[in-house]
Amino acid sequence: MLEDDLSAASFDELGTQFIGRRVNYFPSLPSTMETARSQARQGAPQGTVVIAGEQTAGKGRMKRAWLSPAGGVALSIILYPDMDYLPGLIMVASLAVVGSIREVTGLSSQVKWPNDVLIGGKKVSGILIESGVRGGTVDYAVIGIGINANLRAADLADVSLPATSLSDELGKNVSRPELIVRLLVETERLYRLLKAGGRVYEQWRDSLVTLGKEVSVTSGDAVYHGIAESVARDGSLRLRREDGSLATISAGDVTLRYLTG
Ligand code: BTN
Repeated sequence: MLEDDLSAASFDELGTQFIGRRVNYFPSLPSTMETARSQARQGAPQGTVVIAGEQTAGKGRMKRAWLSPAGGVALSIILYPDMDYLPGLIMVASLAVVGSIREVTGLSSQVKWPNDVLIGGKKVSGILIESGVRGGTVDYAVIGIGINANLRAADLADVSLPATSLSDELGKNVSRPELIVRLLVETERLYRLLKAGGRVYEQWRDSLVTLGKEVSVTSGDAVYHGIAESVARDGSLRLRREDGSLATISAGDVTLRYLTG
């Protein structure tokens, strides 16, 4: 029988150095982001993971809600990176999601800049990075990852993009403990690669479905239209406008809409 009981899952054999050495599981939480942030402020060890069986007030980017019923994966990872590595966390997390989905299900997924993960153009995972920065120093960073695992995407009312789930794609449930194990192992591998100056940016850039497409990007009050031309090492998007000028949009709080393809 497929083992999908998160409350009974053990994450003792991850073989990681720090991510997932401490895992705090809660059957239900308002949001793993809030719990992780308060644990980080109390000095939780780097790599502490907060997992919720379901979230009652899941947070998405741009102050949106993230619907997080039972059957999904909802977790947050606490890190204490140097300032230089903050932009790379989006890349690490997106690649870890794509890699773990591929390893556990065989499904191929793509990254929509800056950090939505799609299967066949439909959103299967969302990533939220929050950090506490004081005087140019990072107090903590929290990587929040939500994956529509074993749930019907049709039940996710109110989502901004067309959604899918792993079980919808596969026609059967996946093992969420196995998916989480792969996700944590991949996150640590990529984070260490990032800190060692390895090819994280290049992998992330090559996994983006956004480049070459005509897009509309909303960032604060500004709306940019143009062709998504490239991404910079700090994660920002370079967008070529119709008049030939180049706009550089930081990967912070933005929404991106394809106008073509
Ligand atoms: C987005 O696509 O807008 C980001 C969604 C991030 C959702 C995850 S689920 C785990 C963590 N806890 C939250 O409340 N949000 C993130």
